[in-house]
Amino acid sequence: MTTQPAIEIAGLEKSFGELTVLRGVDLAVAPGSIYALLGSNGAGKTTTITIVSTLLAADAGTATVCGFDVATQPARVRESISLTGQFAAVDEILTGRENLALVARLRRVPQPRAVVAELLVRFSLTDAADRRVGTYSGGMRRRLDIAMSLIGDPPVVFLDEPTTGLDPQARIEVWQAVKELAANGTTVLLTTQYLEEAEQLADRIAILHEGRIIADGTLAELKQLFPPAEVTYVEKQPSLEEIFLAITSTSDNSQESR
Ligand SMILES: Nc1ncnc2c1ncn2[C@@H]1O[C@H](COP(=O)(O)OP(=O)(O)OP(=O)(O)O)[C@@H](O)[C@H]1O
Ligand SMILES: [Mg+2]
Repeated sequence: MTTQPAIEIAGLEKSFGELTVLRGVDLAVAPGSIYALLGSNGAGKTTTITIVSTLLAADAGTATVCGFDVATQPARVRESISLTGQFAAVDEILTGRENLALVARLRRVPQPRAVVAELLVRFSLTDAADRRVGTYSGGMRRRLDIAMSLIGDPPVVFLDEPTTGLDPQARIEVWQAVKELAANGTTVLLTTQYLEEAEQLADRIAILHEGRIIADGTLAELKQLFPPAEVTYVEKQPSLEEIFLAITSTSDNSQESR
């Protein structure tokens, strides 16, 4: 059975002046799955997410979300997505509850109070709900930011580095929230520099390096690209970090030899 991907990117290219960032990116994300786009600083993760969320035009290639083309049907794409950017977009003067209520009004959801109350519970923000966001910790802001993006139940959610700067406990809380999203059928495309995050969360992982996806698969598939060491007493599975470093250095070598 073939299902249409919730997100499909083909041959995506983007340069900023002299700087070529994307050189032909291809990826497909199955509905209801979590897909992690992994890459170093400056690899082009945010650029990719920004194009798929219609905020930036590509130079070449195509991208569709829920079957809608980002270039020709941007309004339909925007109705289908939410974007949580790399930097939290919460209003510090307002309380958590007021931030959520503002977005609920803007998106004209029916029964906004109930929706806001449900999200506060889901993201463990009920106790802090009536405090100004200026007093929140980084983890609380991040959870509020993600909660705001879920108002209106978009089928596709983009999370750009959702846990950067969070402590391990706050990170686990965000992971839990993301897993629940996917369990409820939402498609999640997230970017991360944390290999462990991809290992923990993602159904599929893609590694973006020098403008292309140089590896793409399930964690098990990626592990097969990197055979475990021979002659060992205790069988050691390679960590995703080792796979990442091995693949990126191989790709560097092949680029240099051209
Ligand atoms: N609007 C822009 N104008 C010029 N250069 C840009 C612009 N946006 C991004 N770039 C450059 O494109 C490259 C890719 O940036 P991008 O933000 O997509 O990387 P990233 O993978 O998200 O990195 P990070 O992990 O640091 O967030 C970087 O070299 C960046 O400086
Ligand atoms: Mg980025």
